[in-house]
Amino acid sequence: MEIKTNRLLLRDHVKTDWKDIHEYASIPEFSQYDIWGPNSEDDSKNFVQSCIESSLTKNRFKYDLAVFHRREKRVIGGIGIRRSSESSLISDLGYAINPNFQGKGLATEAVLAMFDFAFNQLNLALIYATCDCRNIASYRVMEKVGMIKVGQILKHREIKGHWRDSYRYEVLSPKYSK
Ligand SMILES: CC(C)(COP(=O)(O)OP(=O)(O)OC[C@H]1O[C@@H](n2cnc3c(N)ncnc32)[C@H](O)[C@@H]1OP(=O)(O)O)[C@@H](O)C(=O)NCCC(=O)NCCS
Repeated sequence: MEIKTNRLLLRDHVKTDWKDIHEYASIPEFSQYDIWGPNSEDDSKNFVQSCIESSLTKNRFKYDLAVFHRREKRVIGGIGIRRSSESSLISDLGYAINPNFQGKGLATEAVLAMFDFAFNQLNLALIYATCDCRNIASYRVMEKVGMIKVGQILKHREIKGHWRDSYRYEVLSPKYSK
């Protein structure tokens, strides 16, 4: 499973990816808005292992891919589209980029490539994502890729002992919209 963009290769994980992932996943502020982290080394290794296992399942319905920087020749982030089952046409979207590579449009580039894959290869109908209302970088990415804010969910999830208010964004496949 490989998707090439100008600067990136979105590909299935390999075992050794955990080190590059751990570089940012172990930083407490990096995952401040998320349910996971900060990662121990074992957390990062287990994450990579679970991605590899899910990539090997028959009738795959989750694509958690490594964001590999083609020039730097290293993993600089992750991106995932995850359906709840193989028959679902609706998918969740998530992404992360190492702070040393942020602010260069790389998350936007990765998300647009995933949309192309999701809508044209998997024929999905709708992709949605939620983020903490304070996570400006995350919702800026959603706006830049053309997702529409459909609402604010109060007390959406409990994150590290606090209730998180979230924005929900969506994008509909051109094939499914009138
Ligand atoms: C969200 C994340 C993936 C964005 O990655 P990125 O490669 O920097 O994203 P891009 O460069 O494509 O776009 C980021 C946009 O947010 C803007 N931005 C970032 N921080 C900002 C801030 N504090 N205030 C205003 N705008 C901000 C950038 O300027 C850019 O917008 P622009 O192109 O209009 O200038 C990255 O910040 C990250 O990994 N965060 C930690 C994990 C996370 O929160 N993931 C999302 C979970 S829902």
